[in-house]
Amino acid sequence: MESYQIKVQDGKTFREYTDEGKRIYHKSMGNDMSKLHKAVYYAVTLWGNRVINKLPSRHIRKWFYQLLGARFGENCFPCRRVEILLPKGLELGDRVAIGWFAELDARGGIAVGHDTNISSHAKLITGSHDIDDPDFKADFLPIHIGHHCWIGTGAMILQGVNIGDGAVVAAGAVVNKDVDAWTVVGGVPAKVLRKRNDKVDYKTGKPPIFY
Ligand SMILES: CC(C)(COP(=O)(O)OP(=O)(O)OC[C@H]1O[C@@H](n2cnc3c(N)ncnc32)[C@H](O)[C@@H]1OP(=O)(O)O)[C@@H](O)C(=O)NCCC(=O)NCCS
Repeated sequence: MESYQIKVQDGKTFREYTDEGKRIYHKSMGNDMSKLHKAVYYAVTLWGNRVINKLPSRHIRKWFYQLLGARFGENCFPCRRVEILLPKGLELGDRVAIGWFAELDARGGIAVGHDTNISSHAKLITGSHDIDDPDFKADFLPIHIGHHCWIGTGAMILQGVNIGDGAVVAAGAVVNKDVDAWTVVGGVPAKVLRKRNDKVDYKTGKPPIFY
């Protein structure tokens, strides 16, 4: 997803500006569809997020989201009750596990590396608004998560954030800035807790058949 190149951090959060200091807003990846196409696509996604994502077969759930443009590597699996907004913006590497009730807002693009584990109730939110703009303009920036990361239960990753390989986000953290590789962060907003052993090379296991 080329959109990763747009990220700029201004000290507080990720934003991009022109040379004249004017803020640049980035559209949702859904905006390349016609109005009708988008309406149908969103309706089908909504239905899937209510119905298909409860079926006890990861193959059916993956098939459905793949029909809507999501890209899944080998043996990766969204658990039941995961909700995906704009599946075509989502790219998961091999053996990525997404826990129950996780919410993936992929309108700005989400890419996750292999053997990463995103725990239940985590939220990845690529959308935001300019709170000082008179029109409350929307802005979408991608989230990138490396391989062998662990996103703890209930953590929230905000737009534009890049989580380095092997990083761990503690349960309940709110991450609004990049996280270095093999670093453990936690809290609101997330701060560095410690470094993680970088000599890991596990492969997340295959889920049971009815998972
Ligand atoms: C981060 C985590 C992996 C623990 O790492 P650890 O380094 O082994 O943990 P420790 O207990 O030694 O804590 C290290 C420091 O991090 C802090 N910390 C641990 N978890 C934290 C959290 N969720 N939020 C904020 N700070 C946290 C501890 O208070 C401690 O700080 P201190 O040194 O000032 O006392 C763990 O706390 C966590 O969040 N796990 C996620 C669990 C989960 O999501 N499970 C899903 C199902 S598998």
